[in-house]
Amino acid sequence: MTCHCISFYTTILGVLLLSLLYFAVAVDRTNFKTCDQSSFCRRCRKVKPNETPYEVVSSTVIQNDSTLQAELFNKDTGVSYLLQLTSLKDNIFRLHINEKSPLHKRYEVENALQDHPRQAELKIVESLSNNVTVTSGPNKAVLHFSPFRVDLYSGDQLVVSANARGLMRFEHLRTKAVKQSEDNTDNNAGNPEETAQYPGDGAEDDPGAWEENFKSHQDSKPYGPEAVAMDFSFPGAEHAYGIPQHADSLALRSTKTTDPYRLYNLDVFEYETNEKMALYGSIPVLYAHGKERTTGVFWHNAAETWVDILPSADNNMVDSIVNFMSGNVKKPQVESHFMSESGIIDVFFLLGPKPLDAFRQYTLLTGTAPLPQMFTLGYHQSRWNYNDQEDVAQIAEKFDFYDIPMDVIWLDIEWTDSKKYFIWDARKFSNPLEMVQNLTTKGRKLVVIIDPHIKRDNTYYIHNEATANNYYVKHTDGKDYEGWCWPGASSYLDFFDPKVREYFGGQYALDKFQGTTNDVYIWNDMNEPSVFNGPEITMPKDLIHYGGWEHRDVHNLNGMMYTQVTYDALYKRSGGTLRPFVLTRAHFAGSQRSATVWTGDNAAEWEHLRISYPMCLSVGIAGMSFCGADVGGFFKNPDSELLIRWNQAAAWLAFFRQHSHIDTKRREPWTFNDETTQIIRDAIRIRYSYLPYWYTLFREHEISGYPVMRPLWAHYPGETATFAIDDHLLVGDAILVRPVFEPSVTEVSVYFPGEGKDTWYDVDTMQENKTPGATRIPVTLHKIPVYQKSGTIVPRKMRIRRSTVPMKNDPYTLVVIADAEGKATGKLYIDDESSFEYRHGKYVYLRLNFDGKMLSSRYIDNQANFETASWLERVDIANPPKGVKSAKLTSQSLGTVNLEAKYNTNNNVLTLRKPGVNMGEEWFIELIN
Ligand code: NOJ
Repeated sequence: MTCHCISFYTTILGVLLLSLLYFAVAVDRTNFKTCDQSSFCRRCRKVKPNETPYEVVSSTVIQNDSTLQAELFNKDTGVSYLLQLTSLKDNIFRLHINEKSPLHKRYEVENALQDHPRQAELKIVESLSNNVTVTSGPNKAVLHFSPFRVDLYSGDQLVVSANARGLMRFEHLRTKAVKQSEDNTDNNAGNPEETAQYPGDGAEDDPGAWEENFKSHQDSKPYGPEAVAMDFSFPGAEHAYGIPQHADSLALRSTKTTDPYRLYNLDVFEYETNEKMALYGSIPVLYAHGKERTTGVFWHNAAETWVDILPSADNNMVDSIVNFMSGNVKKPQVESHFMSESGIIDVFFLLGPKPLDAFRQYTLLTGTAPLPQMFTLGYHQSRWNYNDQEDVAQIAEKFDFYDIPMDVIWLDIEWTDSKKYFIWDARKFSNPLEMVQNLTTKGRKLVVIIDPHIKRDNTYYIHNEATANNYYVKHTDGKDYEGWCWPGASSYLDFFDPKVREYFGGQYALDKFQGTTNDVYIWNDMNEPSVFNGPEITMPKDLIHYGGWEHRDVHNLNGMMYTQVTYDALYKRSGGTLRPFVLTRAHFAGSQRSATVWTGDNAAEWEHLRISYPMCLSVGIAGMSFCGADVGGFFKNPDSELLIRWNQAAAWLAFFRQHSHIDTKRREPWTFNDETTQIIRDAIRIRYSYLPYWYTLFREHEISGYPVMRPLWAHYPGETATFAIDDHLLVGDAILVRPVFEPSVTEVSVYFPGEGKDTWYDVDTMQENKTPGATRIPVTLHKIPVYQKSGTIVPRKMRIRRSTVPMKNDPYTLVVIADAEGKATGKLYIDDESSFEYRHGKYVYLRLNFDGKMLSSRYIDNQANFETASWLERVDIANPPKGVKSAKLTSQSLGTVNLEAKYNTNNNVLTLRKPGVNMGEEWFIELIN
């Protein structure tokens, strides 16, 4: 009896514990530093406003071509700095400050910028005793000498001011001061060489200045304090956006009573939403936006960074040096304060003026994402793990059985032989080539994971070669660093070393990476890097990289160095013919050039579904449009409603992949019930039907830098009500999506931007919504609100097949929504969907125009040409002109042909069936009454 009771209670306790474990997706905060636990953050945050010790030495100001140069002097420490203010093309300024004679070189970021930014001419227009004014095109910069401050104007409007609050801090490099011991027996006492060279900035007073401890980890900090910090004020701005990655709202929140936002690439287990904590990626670009303009700053620094933010609503700043009062009315103003552990001050000012201008300016510096292959925009099916090749085959078959399109199957770490990347687990995958071929014959691809940690196993050739050639990141004493990750004891290749990049890239060659073909693409995970037993689950900062740089200097760049190797290797292994596809978790400024990103280990919770929108919008305005989140949530198990809503929402994010933890239940679209399968199938099929539109937007992103998914304020910058909306997004400028992020709802609030000038048409019913602003819209389980803007033409493909490859030559449907004047425009880009031939003019780029009577397709780029087998299958015109009876199509190859026009009175849509013209040629269709 007793025995039974005990086992009964133990079972209950066990279940309770398990369920606690199961339900509590909560980050262990003790693993991660707060600002107060970080010596440099503490020091920088303590700087008192309005007491800046920095001043420009007026006699040193010189100007040449595009640059204004001067010496900056810290009157507390006696240290001199060199300042350069450079004007760049397209409304960009760069402010670069370094020590004039540092004890040793300070790290300056490499690889984030795509090229040398192009300079623009600059002229001194006024030189006074306490400031100098320069102009460049429509912009003006004023360098104030004492106190030091830089004001940047667009026209006559001051848009951003650096050091207006006097929070700049630039800790000069120094030798460690040797304290005189009490009895004066210290041998070094009194030796001036051995004491601090320049006292006066108080850095030494911080106990963490020369050595820092966190939990059981010690950071030896041989170079001592070397932080840099600067404040930026944005008069006229109401909100700040950007500085991803955080699981937080798109409009950044005040840090007045919290820690600053942190930028430090970290593997945060079970991260929580609405948090300013650091996550896997760091892109230090910030945009301040108000009704009149958008202005950005790009803080070009790869060390750990914290950013204080004060949106206008929380800004009661009385201590600002800049007086932005006009009369008694306080203008809105955003404040920010960037603080980095090391490096230099190198900041780009993006003067907009419109949101899309500022986004473009950022990508002018850091590059755009190359056009991805079409298949990457399809649906991806992943889990940790598909067990073996039979499992993979069955999953693929099931998609066919249920008639659900799917382009890619993913293999997580269990594909490897005991986490030795590049080597298959031969028991589970005895014939990987056959497995790949089974996928490719159906037009599908495979993605496998390759992590950056290397198993320390002397039967593993990569480990042996890396050891022999000194390829690993090192301790200060020259020994290879050893940490702990999936394989157990691991070391970490130093991707900052060109030899290592060359070597590791070579591992992807088809003759080296057995069992793969050019249809196998790569997922780079854990590249923050994640080190299970390292400080804050990453690499110690005092390790040494190529060139002698400390990990501290380059930490946030580490993941990108790795993905660039993969990108280049995939490019090479296809002989430069196929566009690589690489998924990354860690990211930095410039990562868009080599990788797609996802939001890491989220959870099957409604809040995590919701946060996927602001997270992808935020990284999108920071150059990385190709973003998605694990559909269904990585941890825990979604119920069918959550999974349905997640698919419906994710179908409108650029990267659409279901993925889940090894302990979760299977959740492929058919694992619940018929209704769930059917609704998810519909969501995925709708995604495929819009692929021509997505693809066109990606090509336009590559050319213009405009994000593919955009916050509403990107197109409605003067509409204040849009500023805080981040549960809607615009795909391009034509599609408005507001997913359902709450369980069991029958209606949601949709905000229709455009103040009535733009109206919005439900894409399913073609019904126009006539109420601008926030409106309650009914939803069912089958439907989320998706609208097409009046005045737009969106290209679609309506014949949905098992993957994108067999859809390549399928015909197009054009959805035309005439605006109040009866007009609409759109664009369509077509190429071979996979190769780089488009860079040699093998594409067609079409402007679609409807003027109320005539619909035409004209080349935007006359030089380009591409033969496509796709033709025009159907045109739907919503809000068409009255009384149309028929239509006439004219093209070079068809001549003039009559078309049947059918008007549907129920939805006010005119349909032209089978125009039949090839999409590669120019044509026009006249409507006839
Ligand atoms: C962490 C990644 O975030 C997750 O997606 C993956 O499944 C695991 N690593 C195992 O590789």
